[in-house]
Formats: sequence, C-alpha cells, structure tokens
Amino acid sequence: MATHHTPLHHAAAEAVAAHAGIAATDLKVEAPPRAELGDLAVGCFAIAKARKQNPAEVAGAIAAAFQPTRLLASATAAGPFVNFRADRTATYRWLIDSALRGRLVPGELGTGKTICIDYGSPNISKHLAYHHVRGTTVGHALAQTFRALGYRVVGINFLGDWGTTHGMLLAAWARWGPVEPVDVSALNALYVRFRAAAAGDPALEQEGRAWFKRLEDGDPEARALWQRFRDVSWAEFQSVYEILGITYDEVRGEAAYEPDMPRILETLAGHGLLTESQGAQVVELPGEKTPILLRTRDGTTLYATRDVAAAEYRWANYHFTRSLYVVDRGQALHFRQLFKLLGRMGHEWAGRCEHVPYGLVKIDNQKSATRLGNVVLMRDVFTIAETMVREVIAENNPEMPPDQVAEVARQVGIGAIVFANLAPQRDKDIDFDIEHAVSLEGDSGPYLQYSHARCASIARKAGGRVTDLDGIDLGKLAHDAEWAIARRLLEFPESVVRSSESCEPHVICHYLLQLAAEFSRWYTLGNGDAALRVLCDDAATRRARLALVSAVQATLRDGLGMLGIAAPDQM
Ligand code: ARG
Repeated sequence: MATHHTPLHHAAAEAVAAHAGIAATDLKVEAPPRAELGDLAVGCFAIAKARKQNPAEVAGAIAAAFQPTRLLASATAAGPFVNFRADRTATYRWLIDSALRGRLVPGELGTGKTICIDYGSPNISKHLAYHHVRGTTVGHALAQTFRALGYRVVGINFLGDWGTTHGMLLAAWARWGPVEPVDVSALNALYVRFRAAAAGDPALEQEGRAWFKRLEDGDPEARALWQRFRDVSWAEFQSVYEILGITYDEVRGEAAYEPDMPRILETLAGHGLLTESQGAQVVELPGEKTPILLRTRDGTTLYATRDVAAAEYRWANYHFTRSLYVVDRGQALHFRQLFKLLGRMGHEWAGRCEHVPYGLVKIDNQKSATRLGNVVLMRDVFTIAETMVREVIAENNPEMPPDQVAEVARQVGIGAIVFANLAPQRDKDIDFDIEHAVSLEGDSGPYLQYSHARCASIARKAGGRVTDLDGIDLGKLAHDAEWAIARRLLEFPESVVRSSESCEPHVICHYLLQLAAEFSRWYTLGNGDAALRVLCDDAATRRARLALVSAVQATLRDGLGMLGIAAPDQM
C-alpha cells in the first residue's frame, strides 16, 4: 500500500483510481524521469493486467477523461504512464506555505506510535572514542527524523556498566589505586594495566572475578566505587552528547537489569528453553549454529541475558511500534539470536525489534591520517574540524565578531563530522576523509550549511525572510529553474518518510544535496542575467522569488535538523 505524502501525489493517485475503480492507496505516484514528461507519473500496469487490457490504452483513456483539479492542470499518456502536470501557481502556494510553516513533512504520520531507539550505549570507564561517532550520530538522526514525523521517540542509552570487566577494574583499583583525579583516562589506564598484568598471571583473572562477585552481591565498597566510576563516565559522555545536541529520554544501563536475572532464567527454564552446555546455561535456536549463552559456568549472567530483560522492560513501559538497536554490524549475530529468543519466549512483539547495523569508520587515506595523528577521542575530532573551518569562516565574513566566528566554526565543524558519518549508506564502511568532510564545496555538511546561510543572506539583503504569502503573486515564478526547485521540494516528504522507514539517514543527506544543487543552479543563472536574479528590479517578482528562497531555506534547516546538524544564518 502506498501512502501519498503531498496533496499533489494524492490528487494524481485519486485521478487514476477514480477512473480505474481501485483504491488510490494501491497506486504508486512517481516523479517522471524527465521534466518534459510532466511532474507526477502513475503507471497503469496493475490496472491493465486486472482488466486484461493494454497498459498504454488504459493510460490513454485515463488521461483523456482527466478533469483538472485545484493542483493538477493536465494529464497526458506516455506509454503505460499517465503523466500529470501541476498547476504551478497553486502548487507553489501549497509548497512554499507548507515549507515556511515547517509542515512539508507529514508531522502527524507517527501520531500514537512509539519508537524506541537504543543508540550510543557505550561501555563505562572508557573514553568515547572516535569509532563511537557513527552509531551515535546515526541514532540521533533517526530520533530527530521520527520526531519530525510526529512519532513519540524514546532515545535510550543502554550503558555498558555491568560485567566482569568492571570487576577487573575494581581489582585494579584495589591493587594500584586510589588514583586522583578519577577520570575515564585514569580508569582506562588502570584497566589496561590490569589486563597486561593478567596476561602473565592467571591469579589476577581470579581477582577480577572475585571483585565482580562482590559487586553482584551488593558489597557496599564495591558498589560505591562502581557508582563513582559510572558517574565519572556519564559526566564525560554527557559532555560529548551536549556537543552533538543529544539528550536521552532513558539512561538505563545493563546494571539496572541485574535484579531481573533470576526471573529471566526461571522463565526460560519454565518454557523448557534452557539447556546446559559445559556447565553454562544456553538456549538452542532454530537455524543458528551456536546457541545463545545466558549464564556462564560460574553463575554470572551475560550481555544477552540483560538484553532480554531490557527488551521486556521497553515493551512493558513503552509499547513500542518499533524497537531499534543502532549498533555496529559486528553484533548482528547477537541481535539475531536475541530476537529469535524473544520470539521463542512467546513475545509477539519480538518482530518489532530491529537491529539497525552500521559499518565501520576507517581512516585509511594518508591526508586524514596525518591530520588526525593518533587522535582517538571523539571530542578531539570535533575540535580539529572546528579549527579547520574557523579560518575560512573568518575570511568569508570579515565583519563577523570573533565570538560569532567561534560559534559558527563550532557548528560547522560538528556539522562536517556528523554529515560525513551519515552521508554514506548506513551499512557501508567509511574511509573518513576530514579534508572532504570540512570542505565547503563538496558533498559535505558545510556545503549544505553554506547553502542555507546563502538563502538567509539573500533574505537579509532584501530586508527579511518571507514568513507568509499574503499579497505575494506566485504567478511571477515563471522560470523552469524555479520550477525545478519546486519539483525537488515536492520530494522532501517522501524522502523523509523513506529515511525513517528504512532507518537510512543518508536518504535525507542525498535529498538535501540535490535540493542545494538545484537552488545553486537557479541562483547562478542570475549571475549572467540580471532579469533572473532573485533580487531583481521588479518588486512583485522579487517578493515571489524571495518566498521561494525562504522555502528552500526552511527546508534545508528542517532537513539538517533531522540529521542533528545546526543551520547558522551566516557563515
Ligand atoms: N555497550 C555495547 C557496546 O559498547 C553496545 C550496547 C548496544 N545495545 C544493546 N541493547 N545491546 O558494544
């Protein structure tokens, strides 16, 4: 079933459906491959098949019977397609008005639906390293996109704050601590030292396990230290989330599910699912070579067991429509097994759980490798990008006060990194190229931000952005380059919906690049021909063009917002 996200798509589908006696929602409305063909196209294959007729004949008959509507001016048949031409003035009005009010995307699509998104979810007592950036930015973009579509989003940080590694850290602290100040670097150093020592001394392993046992048993000293490590880590993580504009709706780590472990194991046993394998408790799953491990030989529970409890908790609390796990591709087996297990436990909502895997970020190219040195921290990469763009921004804006230059450089530096992580297909690895990421010219975040700022600057020159269409004659938008922008704007709702359905932020990235390119094509025409300038001499034409610029500006801003990227007005 197809849902039509603009009144034009809807009208085109209706026009064909009414004639063919089928539901409009059964029809797909597309953009014809070339603008000369029309603005919207509906294929007649299915109808022709049902009627045992030739598709071209069906299309011809439908086009001949077409009566113009408020938004559709005409229809012609081209082979098996009915191609519709929009009424340009009416379409501009709907498009620009919707864009200006931030309502181009169907903001009610998700009403009454909840999406849980588990993303970021780092392990504590370690830095947020550069490789965490992809999952964090993808998850945040999805959260923002679903929110824009009116879904209730529960952004979840499932901190890795439980397990034997935390016992090892406590053991390390007992041996070599206390260290001051306590920060993630110090904690990580302790842990690394412990691992190195343990490699030559099996007794240490035992010490680590003993400390984890104390922690599990609620020993006050172990608990207090663990809590301190967790607090210190969270403060560090939060400072990075702040840079990215991320606030989580739920921060519940693995430790929070520890009390549920006995119940989960009992339930599994009750269902007759639990079997013993070399002293450990496992569940065999259909189609899986390896069973899922839930309890080790020494009685400790595992990541998977806590994920079972967390999934149940999320269902009980949120009754999600979809529960997404934005986690690197390397954990595909874990999630496949987890969801199968939930299904075998009789949870009919197991099918609503989805692993949203993403590829790695590599720094293979020499230029970036040199630029970044051995930087491993996420925050440092932002700082480097910020420094790289600051000079250009200062140069391009000689009148901008230094504070503002710093703020814009921050927004653009971050935007550059975020976009570089979102633009490639989610499951593809990225060879991160920081030069490309910060470039104002390439397919980059800064290029989109720059396009937005250019719209804002045009409006400033004209005395302000257009905020409503009263008294504006959109019939003055008579050029095909302007119409090309309108056609692009018409695709925005569909792109956003598609991006949400497939959990692919790159769809929005790609869309925005196309919109910016279309805008640039139009804008550049004015360089050669004064009559085509946005700020041309004719006042009525200028108002109409300014309205279109404002619509592009609003759409770029909204789209960037969905990606988690700021849109400064000047850069
Ligand atoms: N803490 C895990 C890691 O750093 C990711 C957790 C992902 N979420 C989940 N529900 N398992 O690899």
